[in-house]
Amino acid sequence: MPEPTKPSTSGAVTPPVPLHVAVIMDGNGRWAKSRGLPRFAGHRRGVEAVRDLVAACGEKGIRYLTLFAFSSENWRRPETEVRLLLDLFGMALDKEVKKLHANNIRFRVIGDVAAFGDKLMERIRQGEALTRDNTALTLTIAANYGGRWDIVQACRELARRAATGTIDPESITADSLEPFLSMAKMPEPDLFIRTGGEQRVSNFLLWQLAYTELYFTPVLWPDFDRGQFEIALASYAGRQRRFGHTGEQIEAATSGSAGKRA
Ligand code: IPE
Ligand code: IPE
Ligand code: MG
Repeated sequence: MPEPTKPSTSGAVTPPVPLHVAVIMDGNGRWAKSRGLPRFAGHRRGVEAVRDLVAACGEKGIRYLTLFAFSSENWRRPETEVRLLLDLFGMALDKEVKKLHANNIRFRVIGDVAAFGDKLMERIRQGEALTRDNTALTLTIAANYGGRWDIVQACRELARRAATGTIDPESITADSLEPFLSMAKMPEPDLFIRTGGEQRVSNFLLWQLAYTELYFTPVLWPDFDRGQFEIALASYAGRQRRFGHTGEQIEAATSGSAGKRA
């Protein structure tokens, strides 16, 4: 079956398992604090939770997993925490990329990674190149990423083309912007999960979350295990995605012509 490029807004019947899951992994600091440990201990445990989630997604046949690891606003944290987070990212990269490759997982990083310095950027690009043709799961890490940054850099690309006369500003639509966004060619997230209890998007995938199902849990990220993931997936499976249609239209499509557009 050909893979739909933009299933989320098509109005097609929604499969019970999401194609694309996006996660804000929040609560590492509080997890550590509640145990009398330094915040960094929470971040380290957070990497283990990532490993488990990647494996679970592979088993469930989820095709895209996008994880928010470091926001463009996280530079505001104490310098020592920022440094430790970047070191941890580098270490995880060195340790995990080969394993991802062995498991046929495509690894990508979105965000303004130039700010991490040449050495880390080079390791990121090497990991992406190594795993480029893998087909089981696409794991995207958002690092120094911000949804507003993403939209702005895409607009800049469009503006450049308008300035040189390659495109007519009057012809610009949402579809014209999408090829320049970091998640170009990937389906929009079907399910968004935020751990740690906060009910906000914190400048994650602003454009792409337009019709995503949102799931918030108080569970802190290092405690988000397979059982918790099952609960999130069950919540998703019980929802009716309408994309602006009526519930009756969706029901008719589900019972009558499954797979066709509502
Ligand atoms: C999420 O956990 C990890 C990053 C933002 C890098 P936090 O570090 O935000 O943990 P809390 O929210 O302080 O508990
Ligand atoms: C969001 O978490 C970013 C990541 C998980 C990487 P934050 O902990 O930075 O979000 P706020 O500051 O509570 O909104
Ligand atoms: Mg937080």
